[in-house]
Amino acid sequence: MITCLLTFGARLQSFSHKEQDAESRSTRLMHAAETTNSCILPTDQGLQLWRFLETPSYRKLSQAQSFMEGVALELLEENISNGSVGSSLISAYLKNPELDRSDVVGTAADLLLAGIDTTSYASAFLLYHVARNPEVQQRLYEEAKRVLPNPKESLSADVLRTDITYTRAVLKESLRLNPIAVGVGRILNQDAVFSGYFVPKGTTVVTQNMVACRLAQHFEEPLMFKPDRWLQHRSALNPYLVLPFGHGMRACIARRLAEQNMHILLLRMVRHFELIWSGSDAQLDVKTLLINKPDAPVLIELKPRTD
Ligand code: HEM
Repeated sequence: MITCLLTFGARLQSFSHKEQDAESRSTRLMHAAETTNSCILPTDQGLQLWRFLETPSYRKLSQAQSFMEGVALELLEENISNGSVGSSLISAYLKNPELDRSDVVGTAADLLLAGIDTTSYASAFLLYHVARNPEVQQRLYEEAKRVLPNPKESLSADVLRTDITYTRAVLKESLRLNPIAVGVGRILNQDAVFSGYFVPKGTTVVTQNMVACRLAQHFEEPLMFKPDRWLQHRSALNPYLVLPFGHGMRACIARRLAEQNMHILLLRMVRHFELIWSGSDAQLDVKTLLINKPDAPVLIELKPRTD
């Protein structure tokens, strides 16, 4: 899992036979992340009964978080016993005298939560759009063949930076239609007026970027998957319209890593396989927990390519 590699410099080997077992660390970690994401809103919205008694969703949330904290501690100990060398985030945090152990464990657990479902749901939506749009897939394949003439070769950072214009447009279009967050959430630190409505300091506001990105006033045929719209010259698009990684000081710290990860996934998948949609004929939609997940299984047949 790329998140663990970045955070702890450790590989969880999540695709190995052993780690696919229901009781393995990787599987339980993924379940714990999903439980956390599904329980935060039901626990905290409304009357906040969890402050007085242990509600079922609070209990589930707390168990999932304890498990994630346990994994963070385990990986932290492994990192320390390996001499805390390398360029992982944890190695850097451990060398920072202003952070104590609980800061480091807390941050590590947050990184695990922030990195797991975001990457997998965004990748699932991306592969869905490619599988459902054969012409897009064909153009991607041509790009993949150009940058990976030998499918077993590695992709250089230079190629990823300069040579994959269409792949970038495909990811951008997927994140426009299916961002992982509906928008950017903040607690106002001062009174504000939005469209004539007074909103007092302390209110939680969430911008509605996902909705705005699906409006015809901003994009032609807004519900169509059209990566080409990112290749044409665009008249000035509002810079706050498409924000799949948030904005400002609290924007996603792993944006570049996540984008690169998905570019590589896409190029490699399309280079090796034809992706054939095998799910329902209905359009895939989103189910919004704390983040957006596909509302139905993403079923794709992988047909190996021979050239
Ligand atoms: C496709 C993958 C991802 C997407 C779409 C995504 C999206 C986001 C968004 C929308 C935010 C909120 C930003 C804001 O409020 O302005 C965020 C925050 C964050 N993300 Fe990501 N993220 C992804 C992957 C990752 C990964 C892999 C990691 C860690 C390895 C990560 C770590 C974080 C952290 C730590 C924050 C909180 C930053 C803060 O509050 O200062 N994200 N991400």
